[in-house]
Amino acid sequence: MELEVEAFSKLLVRPVVVVTTVSESGIPNAAPFSLNTPVSFDPPLYGISCDPTHDTWQNIQENGDFVVNIVGKDFGDLMHVLETDYPYGDNEIEHAGLTAEKAEKVKPPRIKEAKAWIECKQETNIVLGNHIWIVGRVVAVGVQEDSWKEVIDVKDLLCHIAGQFFAVDMKEARYKRAK
Ligand SMILES: Cc1cc2nc3c(=O)[nH]c(=O)nc-3n(C[C@H](O)[C@H](O)[C@H](O)COP(=O)(O)O)c2cc1C
Repeated sequence: MELEVEAFSKLLVRPVVVVTTVSESGIPNAAPFSLNTPVSFDPPLYGISCDPTHDTWQNIQENGDFVVNIVGKDFGDLMHVLETDYPYGDNEIEHAGLTAEKAEKVKPPRIKEAKAWIECKQETNIVLGNHIWIVGRVVAVGVQEDSWKEVIDVKDLLCHIAGQFFAVDMKEARYKRAK
């Protein structure tokens, strides 16, 4: 069956990460991203694709630091909170009832409830289409002990397909979303 070209992103499952950043005045920000992947092992580099209107991009331009928080299915119903376009400077970690924990090597906090976290410092960025591909140098990583089985335990991870569809199974593929 042929589809419109625009449907390409509905054919892939991608892990949801919540990217935390911090503003110049020290207010943390959190936003879900599914356009994300490791891009190099040596040096360790991680990429996220960000709409340039997002507060996440504004904060990264200000200080270059971000944390990629790898989250579980328990974050599914928080997506509609974390993706809400709150005024710049609002703390989405608090809006979502999550806990900010001090990161090891970067300014933004990581999210305590996340399964794992990758601390990054911006290495480079490039405009690609209507997004900015932001590449960060990985400077610290960690995982919750009960999610570590030589590699991350995938059974609880939250993965996104498109729009309101998440990869749980087709019966419960929809989490509540704002749009
Ligand atoms: C599951 C999910 C995945 C998302 N993936 C991306 C993404 O990869 N890139 C992006 O720019 N926005 C993505 N968004 C939208 C942003 O998270 C959303 O617009 C958010 O409000 C931006 O927050 P900010 O302005 O605080 O940075 C996604 C939203 C959801 C719910």
